Amino acid sequence: MLAIECQAYGPPESLVVVEHDAPEPAQGQVRIRVHAAGVNFVDALFVSGAYQVKIPPPFVPGNELAGEVDGVGPDVEGIAVGDRVMAQVGVGAFAEQVCVPVRAVRPVPTGMSMEAAAAFQLTYATALYALRERGAIRPGETVLVLAAAGGVGSAAVDVARRLGARVIAAAGSDEKLELCRRLGAEATINYDREDLKTRVRELTNGEGADLVVDPVGGPYSEAALRATAWEGRFLVIGFAAGEIPRVPLNLALLRGCQIVGVDWGALSRQRPEETRPVLATLDAWASAGELSPLVTRTWPLAEAGAALRAVLDRQVAGKAVVTTARGSP
Ligand SMILES: NC(=O)c1ccc[n+]([C@@H]2O[C@H](COP(=O)([O-])OP(=O)(O)OC[C@H]3O[C@@H](n4cnc5c(N)ncnc54)[C@H](OP(=O)(O)O)[C@@H]3O)[C@@H](O)[C@H]2O)c1
Repeated sequence: MLAIECQAYGPPESLVVVEHDAPEPAQGQVRIRVHAAGVNFVDALFVSGAYQVKIPPPFVPGNELAGEVDGVGPDVEGIAVGDRVMAQVGVGAFAEQVCVPVRAVRPVPTGMSMEAAAAFQLTYATALYALRERGAIRPGETVLVLAAAGGVGSAAVDVARRLGARVIAAAGSDEKLELCRRLGAEATINYDREDLKTRVRELTNGEGADLVVDPVGGPYSEAALRATAWEGRFLVIGFAAGEIPRVPLNLALLRGCQIVGVDWGALSRQRPEETRPVLATLDAWASAGELSPLVTRTWPLAEAGAALRAVLDRQVAGKAVVTTARGSP
């Protein structure tokens, strides 16, 4: 079976296509024939060795996948060959087959395509965990989403709207802002052309945003913190712009606001039981056909490096996936 391997830390171009024997599922595992794998910014961080958790090469990157069970290990019950399943695996998804502990596997929601199932797990879980569990969002509040057409950003727009909030989406191009409006953003700001703080204040009658979702960092964070409302919550999610901002802490005092760290990956590793309410809500919404994960780009598995390069270069609005030759059933 084909797999994409990181043989030494480096850029996406250093990934190597390899051929391996099919892995055998161990006790408590199932083997999944992968149909599609989501492409995430964090995969590039794993590949470059820049992520906070370092996996020694060689390893197969890829955080999330959807496919069909094609092998069942000893002592596994309640799941059978042919079941349509999805899983978040941290690394290992960029392969035609992968073995996964059965506790990490969930059914693909009814009516959802393999591509959408592969693409929504990490970003939607992060967005819901951030807004509801960490940000205590309330209906009617105003949420400012930065990098709002990115993976986490577009999920945050969708989830915030679903939780009854009013969304202001900020992104770097008019095409991306159009996508945010399609997801339900009420107002948009091109943060590379307009003054972020001034525009947010104009759009909120001078009050500022109750919640800020920040997966981008860089120069955008301080302007967004300055546009946060009294007793607002500023959710620190990631630093896609590359620079970890150093903000004046008096801004938190002046706004009586909270700066809240959000790490879905750490929660999954350290307190997996606390991920259940988030996953249960997402599965319920997905099964009811209420989620709108936007898969806008598809590459063949062998071109996973090119897909990651496009993500790093701000070329993807919504989500990208890689698919195996089997595609969607
Ligand atoms: N804390 C957590 O639990 C968690 C979970 C998932 C991901 N993350 C992190 O969140 C961040 C975003 O992840 P994602 O999957 O949403 O990424 P993504 O889909 O690539 O979106 C990132 C967005 O950042 C913007 N951006 C601005 N400057 C950029 C630059 N110099 N390089 C690249 N992008 C730039 C781009 O939008 P514009 O062109 O519109 O500016 C891009 O669409 C990453 O740092 C990731 O590691 C954290």
